[in-house]
Amino acid sequence: MSKTATLEFDGKKYEFPVTVGTENEIGIDIKKLRGEAGLITLDPGYKNTGSCESAITFLDGEKGILRYRGYAIEDLAEKADFLEVAYLLIFGELPTKEQLSKFTNDIKEQSHVDEEMKKILDGFPKSAHPMGVLASLTSALIAFNPSSVDVSSEEDMYKAIVKILGKFPVLAAWTLRKKNSLPLNYGDEDLGYVENLHKMMFEKPNKTYKVDKAVIDALDKLLILHADHEQNCSTSTVRMVGSSHAGLFASLSAGISALWGPLHGGANQAVIEMLERIKEDGGDTHKFMQKAKDKEDPFRLMGFGHRVYKNFDPRAKIIKKSADEVLGQLGVEDPVLDIAKGLEKEALEDDYFVKRKLYPNVDFYSGIIYRALGIPVEMFTVMFALGRLPGWIAQWREMRLKKEPIGRPRQIYVGESHREFKPLGSR
Ligand code: CMC
Repeated sequence: MSKTATLEFDGKKYEFPVTVGTENEIGIDIKKLRGEAGLITLDPGYKNTGSCESAITFLDGEKGILRYRGYAIEDLAEKADFLEVAYLLIFGELPTKEQLSKFTNDIKEQSHVDEEMKKILDGFPKSAHPMGVLASLTSALIAFNPSSVDVSSEEDMYKAIVKILGKFPVLAAWTLRKKNSLPLNYGDEDLGYVENLHKMMFEKPNKTYKVDKAVIDALDKLLILHADHEQNCSTSTVRMVGSSHAGLFASLSAGISALWGPLHGGANQAVIEMLERIKEDGGDTHKFMQKAKDKEDPFRLMGFGHRVYKNFDPRAKIIKKSADEVLGQLGVEDPVLDIAKGLEKEALEDDYFVKRKLYPNVDFYSGIIYRALGIPVEMFTVMFALGRLPGWIAQWREMRLKKEPIGRPRQIYVGESHREFKPLGSR
């Protein structure tokens, strides 16, 4: 294969090196394009732009493959637990027993936040969306942990990483406790990471905390499935903010805000709201399919379609199977599960969806499981953020260790050319 690509423009030829990835993905390295030819590439939404070389996550949208550090998502979801996967994503290898034990203990050491943080939480109205509160509290953590801001050595990065992995579940749980008017708690460090998260979210002040293993296993699996997805909107945001050396917590706070949107992580909330709406409307899935296809109607089938997956989303396959299992194990019957299956069946046979290669994505069935686990709809995207945290951290760390330059895209200006200023009186 040729090691260069040639561009011909205005009668001149320019040669650019080509980068080939492990899985034979090919990128034309256009770093010198502007310097040599005075041109830039134009790609709104970065649909076809590689922003980095990364060794963390591989996904093949045509074949429906997703791997973290080379390991298939199906294997990890089945055989690993969330902290093992977090370690794998961040440090590149599955941990040994000793490594996992140290990592877990270091995180536990950090599983509390400054008491003053409670005052900040107190200032939010109860009606505040948990994602907004979580982004704000993550940002506020910086003030109480200033040594985590300007980190460049691997050792300081490690300290910042275990801090946020310890504190983030506390903040996430508190956003729910605030909504539910429950006293703030710190869980129990003898419990595993996911069980402790669950305890912090749901423990009642007058009741001994007990949890079903099926609930923790389901939650663990969901967190793993959400843990990384290469250069998506929130991850690119984390890398972009981190590229200015703004620090890990500030970068994560920006990532949370990006994830909140209904076209990204917010889709899991939007899916359940949509399914409820269909149910209340009488359950006519066909009517809503027609709405989704109507270009005059802003309605989209939430939980369908993906920028990269043009075959199927492997996470959706695992989650759909898990939804059946978890609801069965917990003895929960949710009529929206049938509506979801009906919609999926119809969409997979519909020309509009088939032509555009629109398949259920990770968010289509996840909300149904969250709901069966007793998690309120407004917390769904917070659960996504909890899962995505190690991925964001891994991507931020990779970017900083590779000393990547500050992210700063170019543009093609299409506004007014120079014009004379008119004073207020003569406009
Ligand atoms: N319902 C109806 N039509 C759709 C949908 C949908 N959910 N998704 C895409 N389309 C159509 C779209 O109108 C366009 O049609 P046309 O070619 O006639 O203009 C075509 O399919 C291509 O869509 P696009 O918006 O150009 O594709 P994109 O890669 O920019 O967007 C997406 C991907 C995920 C934002 C989009 O599919 C979508 O809005 N889906 C619903 C929201 C959702 O479920 N988001 C979660 C994504 S997965 C988890 C995550 O990343 O957080």
